[in-house]
This record gives sequence, structure tokens and C-alpha cells, in this order.
Amino acid sequence: AEKWVYMVTAQTPTNIAVIKYWGKRDEVRILPVNDSISVTLDPDHLCTVTTVAVSPSFDRDRMWLNGKEISLSGSRYQNCLREIRGRAGDVEDKEKGVKIEKKDWEKLHLHIASHNNFPTAAGLASSAAGFACLVFSLAKLMNVDEDPSHLSAIARQGSGSACRSLFGGFVKWEMGNKEDGSDSVAVQLADEKHWNDLVIIIAVVSSRQKETSSTSGMRESVETSLLLQHRAKEVVPKRTLQMEEAIKNRDFASFTQLSCADSNQFHAVCLDTSPPIFYMNDTSHRIISLVEKWNRSEGTPQVAYTFDAGPNAVLIARNRKVAIQLLQGLLYYFPPKSDTDMKSYVVGDNSILK
Ligand code: PMV
Repeated sequence: AEKWVYMVTAQTPTNIAVIKYWGKRDEVRILPVNDSISVTLDPDHLCTVTTVAVSPSFDRDRMWLNGKEISLSGSRYQNCLREIRGRAGDVEDKEKGVKIEKKDWEKLHLHIASHNNFPTAAGLASSAAGFACLVFSLAKLMNVDEDPSHLSAIARQGSGSACRSLFGGFVKWEMGNKEDGSDSVAVQLADEKHWNDLVIIIAVVSSRQKETSSTSGMRESVETSLLLQHRAKEVVPKRTLQMEEAIKNRDFASFTQLSCADSNQFHAVCLDTSPPIFYMNDTSHRIISLVEKWNRSEGTPQVAYTFDAGPNAVLIARNRKVAIQLLQGLLYYFPPKSDTDMKSYVVGDNSILK
């Protein structure tokens, strides 16, 4: 039997939405009810590293996440694997004696090993980096000749927010309007160098796993929240355009106003859901009040906040100097004690947009 193993490793950062995706119009294809905009973190910080391997000696597809074997039988994994296999090309590596033809991929099996370099339990958008990395590494392995936007439509079928991690910098996920989802793709608004004064600090308020998964939370919101309908139809379309302008002009005041308003509206939609969903806790609320007070007292915004499906604060400081003041403030108001779960998690050397 042939003995070779052919493998590829890729690294993909996570992303944080400043205009939130919340609600699917198609749960199978993962098509959203509105556009969303995010910022991709520096690839060296919060990221997933995935190695994918193929060998004639593998008898089935298998995957390990942080060293523990997980099942690939779920539709999210199956959809990504099927879409990538369908686009696979010929691969030849003479040195290693590897020659795989397009038609061989249907029969060959894969081993996938994925690691998050950040606490997976902390609910820091691990699925976004994870599925983006899975799709990207498989596409490299199988010589898939597609641009990142096409790959984003595949990653989207693993986890909606993952489609935005195929690009660096500022990224928009266009909801699209086709039924097959082919136009529901990510596009880059500005690259990672465009606004590199910004510093992102993630304050880990609680490392407990969220009680309501984004999948079931979104479903309940779509079924019960009138505010969600209003948000998707009347608010986000305008807000998305304004956010694009703010990013283009590096207008921090507008960027902050829009990010904070959108985060708060997303959590208001959660509260408007029946039964209500609470992702933020008292500490999250205290952080919001402190940032709001600080921004008001300075006259011009210094820090934007945004919260995903959990209590952890993502704080975006306008520059490095403000970021240092922010860290000092966090340490003063939330002194780290061994008996408290409030730790500030600083992303690397504090700068994510190098
Ligand atoms: O991609 P999912 O299913 O993990 O949903 C992500 C939802 C939010 O993080 C709350 C918002 C977003 O746009 O990332």
C-alpha cells in the first residue's frame, strides 16, 4: 500500500463584529437577516491553527479539537467538507511522491487537528476562527482555486461569523438575496493597515460557557422578537452604510457611536426574545457605564465597546495611549483577585491591527 501522508497547516484569526449578525433567514445554508461588519484580530493573537492531512492509509475522516477527538457527523462539518471536496483540484508533490487527481478526493480520507491559542471555554468567538481555518486549510490541501469571498461562502456554512475571518482588517458579510446563498459572502472593506492606531482589549468577565448557544438564541429571537424584525429592516441597512463611512474616514466618534449602539441593540433584541436571553452580567453593565462616563467626560469618544453572546467586553481604544489608560482603569475598578473571575485578557502587545 502507498505510505505517504500529505499535509498543510494554516492559521486564522478570529473576528469581532461591530455591526452584529443575529438571526438567520435560512438555518440550513446559514443565511442572515442582515449585513454585518467586523474587525479581524491580529493573526498572532486570538487564532486557530489547523493541520489537515490526507493519506491512502486513513480509513475515515477524523478530527481532533485541542487534542480531543470530536465527531464530524454534524451538518456544519459535513457541508464544509462536501463543498470543498467538490471543488478540489489535482495535487502533485514530486519530492514526497504525492500525486492526487481531482477524482481521487472523493475516496481519500482526512485527518484534521485544530488548536485554539486562547481559552476555548471563554466564549471568545472560537467557531469563527475555527471554521475559517478549517475551510482555508482544506482549500490549500486540495488545491481549490477559489478567491477568499468564495471560500467565505463555504466557511459560512460551518458558522456564520466564520465567513468574515477569511479576510484581515475590516470586513462586511453581505447578507445577499439569492436563495442558494451564493451571494451571501464576505468582502474586505479595508485592510489591516488602514486604521492601525486602534487597540483592542478583551476583558474576560467570565470564562464560563454561555448558557444559550448562538444557534438556539438566534432561532428564538427570529421566532419571537419584533425588535429583531425592526432592527433587520429599518436599522441595520442604514447603520451598515454609516459604519462603512466611519471606517473609510477613520472617524472614531462615529465608529464608537455606531458600535456601542449596535451592541446595545443586539442585547436589547435578546431581552425582547421570549423567553429572554441574558448574555451580559452586572460586570458587563458596569464596564458600559464606566466607558460611557469616560467618553462623555472627555467630550470626544476614547473607547468603543461591544459584547457578543456572552459577558466579555471587547474594548476598542482609539490609540495606544488611551489603551494604557483603559487598562489602568480596568485594573483600578476590577482589581484582579484570586477569588474573582474578572481577569483582563490583553491581546498580545495590545495592538491587534498591525
Ligand atoms: O457565527 P455564530 O453562530 O457563532 O454567531 C455569532 C453571533 C455574534 O457573535 C453574537 C455576532 C457576530 O456577528 O459575530
